[in-house]
Amino acid sequence: MADSRETLLVNAFVTGWPVKHSRSPLIHNYWLKQFDITGTYKAEAVSEEDFPAFIQALKDGSSGYRGGNVTIPHKELAFRLADRPDALAEELGASNTLWMENGLLNATNTDGYGFTANLDDRHPGWDKIGRAVILGAGGASRAVIQAVRNRGIGEIHVVNRTVPRAQELADRFGPKVHAHSLEALSEVMSGAGLFVNTTSLGMDGGEAPQVDFSSLRDDAVVTDIVYVPLKTPLLAQAENQGFAIVDGLGMLLHQAVPGFEKWFGRRPLVDEALRDLVI
Ligand code: ATR
Repeated sequence: MADSRETLLVNAFVTGWPVKHSRSPLIHNYWLKQFDITGTYKAEAVSEEDFPAFIQALKDGSSGYRGGNVTIPHKELAFRLADRPDALAEELGASNTLWMENGLLNATNTDGYGFTANLDDRHPGWDKIGRAVILGAGGASRAVIQAVRNRGIGEIHVVNRTVPRAQELADRFGPKVHAHSLEALSEVMSGAGLFVNTTSLGMDGGEAPQVDFSSLRDDAVVTDIVYVPLKTPLLAQAENQGFAIVDGLGMLLHQAVPGFEKWFGRRPLVDEALRDLVI
């Protein structure tokens, strides 16, 4: 007979292809230890070809997992294979968080929550300053647009090198969202209250986006979803120009909170020790 420790064991995963760069095991194992929960959280490298079988084993219980996180390139397929995607996942067409409940696979997307929770934590009132300018129109941009729109920001300007991609998002997310080319960047920044970089430009010492912040409102806040380095060249530039900045690490940490609560039953906190551990 299994001992009581074994019967109480709850297991969760992060899956991607590749997955070894994921910081999620570090985050969830920190919280498991903090709460002294008998549980595991492991990285599972699963190819696109093998992903449907991985999900099937989650659904039929044979994997032993209660749920997990999904990262690139499986977020769209995870959404499609779920029995009960929520409205957030539905609108994004992608899910990063899965959990079994009453024999059904539930799916949500917590990236937008991570984005707003990070700003709420670091710069309360960020959503009351004014118009938002979002640079980039990839997967990360979608979650940011959804989050910003759901917080009631009245005008959202998506600026992208490939304009049709920005236009697709404007069509998807409704009348408050407008698409622009990179050439229009300085024009739309004029008088804006929030600037978000959702492109990977500036990551790991790479080329930084060319942005002049001087026409933003004086009290504007500039944030970047890139968190390596913590202070990206873009954030350093905004700070030099006198603007409030918020780094992207908190988005990663906060997006993990709802999943942990679903699988392990406790709502964890994003504390400074966790930030230090992950960076
Ligand atoms: P993710 O899903 O992580 O957001 P993505 O779908 O590859 O990644 O999107 C990356 C974003 O960075 C896009 O908005 C991309 O612009 P395009 O849609 O024109 O490709 C933007 N991007 C990447 N490299 C860029 C560059 N050198 N100059 C301007 N934008 C760039």
